[in-house]
Amino acid sequence: MPMMFKESEFKQPSSFEFNPANLEAAKKIIAKYPTGQQRSAVMPLLDLAQRQHDNWIPQAAMDYIARMLDMSPMKVYEVANFYTMYNKQPVGKYLIQVCRTTSCWLCGSDMITEICKEKLGISLGETTADGRFTLIEVECLGACVNAPLIQINDDYYEDLDAESTNKILDDLLTGKKPKVGSQKDRQCSRPE
Ligand code: FES
Repeated sequence: MPMMFKESEFKQPSSFEFNPANLEAAKKIIAKYPTGQQRSAVMPLLDLAQRQHDNWIPQAAMDYIARMLDMSPMKVYEVANFYTMYNKQPVGKYLIQVCRTTSCWLCGSDMITEICKEKLGISLGETTADGRFTLIEVECLGACVNAPLIQINDDYYEDLDAESTNKILDDLLTGKKPKVGSQKDRQCSRPE
């Protein structure tokens, strides 16, 4: 993921711990793995930490998870840095990820990126001044049949064109919940 802030522009909290509900959830996740293999829980625990902490994982959370799983902190940093779904710095309330790989590119992902840039007034890798939107491009999101698409937080918006992209952004800008999934009412990945 491109840098969205310079390190000096955001503050790393000095400590992190799971809230009581997430601590319970973490214990249940860890219990799914065989004794001695608790480090296998590192990915779901990173996800839990990210959801608790405004959609990004501070270093204090990685260190906390390392202690919880009896791992070296470096191993946790490696996992968090390998997978782009983990945000290591603050992102907007809506993290817009435009897929730019072959199927989406052939079906118009460049146009979608341009619409997002123009409507939100930001470039790739940037966050709007009000902290609501961050825009990035990513590689294949694994839904190529329904290209082109964007992912916003946990949801996919598929079969996009200029009109539907503008509608989704307008809905978010005016506080409405946009329609998730295919914007052409395609059923799953069936032929149109
Ligand atoms: S190329 Fe965009 S989802 Fe695969």
